[in-house]
Amino acid sequence: KGHFETELLFKGKTFLITAGPTKEKIDPVRYFTNRSSGKMGYALAEQAALLGADVLLISGTNALPDPKGVKVIHVESAADMYDEVMANLDQSDVIIKSAAVADYRPKQVFDSKMKKQPGNVAIEMERTKDILLELGKKKKHQFLVGFAAETDNMEEYARDKLIRKNADMIVANNVTKEGAGFAGDTNIVTIFHKDLSSTPLPLLSKKETARRILLEISEKLGDDHR
Ligand code: CTP
Ligand code: CA
Repeated sequence: KGHFETELLFKGKTFLITAGPTKEKIDPVRYFTNRSSGKMGYALAEQAALLGADVLLISGTNALPDPKGVKVIHVESAADMYDEVMANLDQSDVIIKSAAVADYRPKQVFDSKMKKQPGNVAIEMERTKDILLELGKKKKHQFLVGFAAETDNMEEYARDKLIRKNADMIVANNVTKEGAGFAGDTNIVTIFHKDLSSTPLPLLSKKETARRILLEISEKLGDDHR
């Protein structure tokens, strides 16, 4: 494909991309979160916009500046992210769930700061809603891409998430590998497709990884998704 065509690859398409960690409050001064930096999701948003897409980025709290040419909604908790994603589902053509969403949140949120007591404390946690799973149930024409962060059995878990959550594609990374995972500017991912094929990518910058993921998406955008 020529340069001009590549530039317009996603013209007329609306992308909804989620990024970064969620934060689950326990009291006014404390929360539970995870090690996600948001960099992979931000790279996807920026590159999709450069390829001509209308991009809405729904981002958890992180230190990154808003990407150029992208509309950004900032959220904190998994519940907030769920609400914003569902409110924007209908007008989206491609949804990429690169956010690291908390699986649990404190069952009770305290209005004032918890004071320390002698001895141990147990904090009861309850499950959050699985946004990708719900999207898989609700989607119509949308092309749905999930991520899978694993420390072991990557292929097995990624394929399970693909089927169980009714996604069209899962991007998996082994976060224990040198050069992959949360904080850095590089990643090593394998893309799993519904037809059971997979595309392993080498160690690449998150920007280049994003471009390769987006090219795979554009190839798979079949008639159902046009
Ligand atoms: N995800 C989501 N909502 C949640 C949890 C996860 O939308 N409450 C999405 C993530 O954004 C990602 C995919 O599900 O696209 C897989 O997330 P991951 O944490 O790897 O898998 P889980 O299904 O949560 O399973 P586990 O953490 O037990 O591996
Ligand atoms: Ca999880």
